[in-house]
Amino acid sequence: MPRRIIPVASGKGGVGKTTFAVNFALELAKRAPTVLVDLDTATSSVRNTLKVPIQKDLYHFHRKGARLSECLTRLDPSVDRSGRFRDFAFVAGPIHYLEDVAAMGPELRRRLAAELHSLPADYVVLDLRAGVDATVLEFLPYTNSGALVFTPQLPQAASAAADLVKAMVFRTLRTIFAEQSEVFALPGIADARELVNELLVRAEDAYDDSVPSIDFLLRDLADVFGDHPLLIALGEVLAAFRVHYVLNQFDGVEQSHDRAVVPFVRTLADTVSARLDLTQLGWVVQDDRIHRANCAGRPFVLDDEAPRARPAAADPHLAQLESLRAAALGIDRRPATRITAARGAAGGKSSDVDALLGEQLDRLRTMFSGVRGAAGPRENLAYCVSRALALLQPPRLPTEFGMTQLASPEQLVRWLLKRLAVVPAAS
Ligand SMILES: Nc1ncnc2c1ncn2[C@@H]1O[C@H](COP(=O)(O)OP(=O)(O)OP(=O)(O)O)[C@@H](O)[C@H]1O
Ligand SMILES: [Mg+2]
Repeated sequence: MPRRIIPVASGKGGVGKTTFAVNFALELAKRAPTVLVDLDTATSSVRNTLKVPIQKDLYHFHRKGARLSECLTRLDPSVDRSGRFRDFAFVAGPIHYLEDVAAMGPELRRRLAAELHSLPADYVVLDLRAGVDATVLEFLPYTNSGALVFTPQLPQAASAAADLVKAMVFRTLRTIFAEQSEVFALPGIADARELVNELLVRAEDAYDDSVPSIDFLLRDLADVFGDHPLLIALGEVLAAFRVHYVLNQFDGVEQSHDRAVVPFVRTLADTVSARLDLTQLGWVVQDDRIHRANCAGRPFVLDDEAPRARPAAADPHLAQLESLRAAALGIDRRPATRITAARGAAGGKSSDVDALLGEQLDRLRTMFSGVRGAAGPRENLAYCVSRALALLQPPRLPTEFGMTQLASPEQLVRWLLKRLAVVPAAS
């Protein structure tokens, strides 16, 4: 099976990234070799959540010239009594704060990114730090979020998660429309170089309300250029963008909808686009046992009583979820060639957003009632993993959920050009 890299990010701190990343990686490891890498190198919380003897960690990688694959820690039999997690390993952050590892300069980031690809695992899960900076963005793919965690317990977490998506979308667009980008070699597109970059700056600037979002940017471009290959390029990027989110500390459908999903979707629609593909990977209930397990250094999924999760293919909820995915909130399945025809709606009218939110609530309710009988934290995790595995089935774009590699900007542009080569020109 090809290797997949799954970053776990959140924007806001303290929402359960590490809890989710550790337990998700453990649960994945029951299906295939999985390595969890602690990239929150300032606090290195994986090693506190998973207390086992560690011989080598990122200190040895950074300062002692060890290969990343030499810094793996496996669970000993005192922790993994049944041997069910023998295919799990993790790379710990340094034991105490070290400025050069915590700050993760460009050289360390480059070496880490390169060696992540050679870890001996089918799945590599990354526990990222909170906030939005290069140490987070560089480990996120260009066209999806990995798993984005937020929680109804902290309403600010939803807008922080939306901000992280915004940072990713604009990074992707800036890369594609960079001054020297090959995209401008496309026939008829060079004349839009200055305008698109000016509009991108304005769309990203929350204090400039002349272009509040990318949907408005598309509308403005359509007004100036009419049907133009640039609109097709932009449409392709937005159509390929994926957001996969997990609700942690879930406390019921209505509360989660009101305090997490609504602010997340509204912020995204207002500041980025109502056209993004949003998919819910699942949720993890608020449960004191989770916190106690973390404090004891023994993640809850390690519990020997854990039931075997149903295999992805046989899970009836997965079929349901797959059909939901096609119509997931905010997906605008209109082909890029029709973006100009939709320019009237490109402003993300609030009635559209309301309708989409209503759909999302219905789906949340259906999904929740469908698995209500199995709603404990371990079952939640098994469900998220089944869901993720279903999404990881080939054929895949190299840039999609569970990306096969951390794509470089050059690869991103090449990918777009390839995609555009098969998109029919606007009529
Ligand atoms: N579902 C849950 N139920 C109960 N407690 C939880 C749950 N998820 C996380 N916690 C607790 O919430 C706190 C924050 O969790 P965690 O450290 O996983 O968040 P984080 O997003 O990784 O934080 P940071 O941004 O500091 O890295 C921890 O004390 C953890 O034990
Ligand atoms: Mg953490």
